[in-house]
Amino acid sequence: LSSIRVDVSGVEPGTQLTVKWLGKPVFIRHRTGEEISKAKEQNEAFLAGEAVIDPLARNANLSDGAADASDANRTMPSPEGEAPQAWVVQMGVCTHLGCVPLGDAGEYDGWFCPCHGSHYDLAGRIRKGPAPENLPIPPAQWVDGSTIKLG
Ligand code: FES
Repeated sequence: LSSIRVDVSGVEPGTQLTVKWLGKPVFIRHRTGEEISKAKEQNEAFLAGEAVIDPLARNANLSDGAADASDANRTMPSPEGEAPQAWVVQMGVCTHLGCVPLGDAGEYDGWFCPCHGSHYDLAGRIRKGPAPENLPIPPAQWVDGSTIKLG
């Protein structure tokens, strides 16, 4: 089976759920309002060219493979009644040599890979360290207000 359904009703803002899909970890993070604001600031700095390592969205849900890594292009559409850009779903595999980054960590408060020191921001964009690409975003969509289908 290449697709799975994940119940995210228990994923409170400020927490992250890790599930396995195709044998690899997938991070499902529910941002708080504060994190959404901080992600906006990080987004503006990124789009202004600050600490850009990979400019591409790397989002399997976008038909345009050249789409930029803006926060809007890196987040799930939110379910009805929820603030925009509240959900980040991405592979939990560092694009350097494949370690699993730690959540809520690093200089950008996103993810930090302890293997060789890669810092990912709140949208999973690589901002510092040896990893060459943003964390890839797998095919993901809402089935209903509390269930995400991966694959
Ligand atoms: Fe993540 Fe090297 S595997 S920094």
